[in-house]
Amino acid sequence: MNNANPAPLIARRSGPLQRVAQVPGDKSISQRALILGALAEGETLISGLLESGDVHSTAGALRGFGAELTPQGHGRWRVRGMGVGKWKSPTAELDFGNSGTGSRLVMGAMATTAIKAVFTGDASLRSRPMARVVDPLRAFGVTYEGQGPKALMPLTLHGAREAQGIDVTVRVASAQVKSALLLAALNARGTTHITQTTLTRDHTERMLAAFGAQISVNPDGQGGEKISVWGPAKLIGRDVEVPRDPSSAAFPLVSALIVPGSEIELPGILLNARRIGLIETLLEMGAKIEIRNERTSGGEKIGDLIVRHSELEGVDVPAERAPSMIDEYPVLAVAASFAKGKTAMRGLEELRVKESDRLEAVARGLKANGVRHEIEGDDLIVEGGAVPGGGTVATHMDHRIAMSFLTMGLASEKPVIVDDVTMIATSFPEYQDLMKGLGAVMDAP
Ligand code: S3P
Repeated sequence: MNNANPAPLIARRSGPLQRVAQVPGDKSISQRALILGALAEGETLISGLLESGDVHSTAGALRGFGAELTPQGHGRWRVRGMGVGKWKSPTAELDFGNSGTGSRLVMGAMATTAIKAVFTGDASLRSRPMARVVDPLRAFGVTYEGQGPKALMPLTLHGAREAQGIDVTVRVASAQVKSALLLAALNARGTTHITQTTLTRDHTERMLAAFGAQISVNPDGQGGEKISVWGPAKLIGRDVEVPRDPSSAAFPLVSALIVPGSEIELPGILLNARRIGLIETLLEMGAKIEIRNERTSGGEKIGDLIVRHSELEGVDVPAERAPSMIDEYPVLAVAASFAKGKTAMRGLEELRVKESDRLEAVARGLKANGVRHEIEGDDLIVEGGAVPGGGTVATHMDHRIAMSFLTMGLASEKPVIVDDVTMIATSFPEYQDLMKGLGAVMDAP
């Protein structure tokens, strides 16, 4: 799976990284702000929205349902929503580009309105399983035609007429699946109970409550949660402030840890408890990360991170932590490559269904750059030390693979070449400028 016009980039061993890095808005919260804005009555004013390929794809799709979304510059957007159950059938196919979150959440959001839409995307998205979302939605009365047993895109979804609330258990550790069900519940009559056996990011729950939905979240007594949503819900447009993305911050953060002499500041980073597994793990590895000025913004905890170069040590990362750092394993594997001793990352099965098979893509990238490692079942074990580098990494249309291995090249002995950095624009368009501003050396071959 490759891009038609790849843009390769070389990352070279760099001098100390310094200064302040303003990473963009959180992708998960940006997507949800647009979708809830489009479902709400009245106007939603968003600030700090991530202006990236994935978010723009979602905005385009939401216009197809009839919502009005207007960019006003610098991450400020105005959304005029249509009200729950009022979306119209789009007249054209919806192209979600590379965005798994956008497409899956929108499937949920239209599922209980009697409309029809065709979902498609780029080669990466067209290879990702949609059955995990559309199969549970069938309980509401949804029908679909997808490609093969995994229900690949192009996929046609027929929303249910007069859906009733359901009682459902989500066993896959996926916030996208949970969120699709939550959004579908909004236009189902009666109460929907969603039990999730593993705790995943809770931005949808928080934002639904803020938009006026009746929703309750309670522990299920077995380590999971039972979420109840009352429908039909009425959402009212509101202001949303999007905090800065910890999953994007992860790249300058790990870069500063591994490049000797570095000290950088990452202000205003989202510190939601279900998103900080990487920070927890790096602190266990001996990382010098200071969190200052913790505060609340837009209903979420945020803080400023001060990060200094650190001598890291290998640790065992338990499988239970995976949901809180699911997008950060590629860059953690890079940090682990520079750490003393072994780092074992357990329970990574969900990595196989991301923008690429991330477990395989990481292993190949490590191999190409002389880092010893093993995959044991769904665990990745990395043996750290001096990193030779000198390899070319295949990104498989995966932005996080690209940024992770560029990170490696900033501290490895020989430069690292990444075969295509185009997809970085799906989540972090300013990545190269931001990293160069800190002192990172990156150039086109
Ligand atoms: C996301 C959930 C995660 C994550 C993705 C964003 C979300 O996916 O990998 O980047 O915003 O809900 P899964 O739900 O598949 O774990």
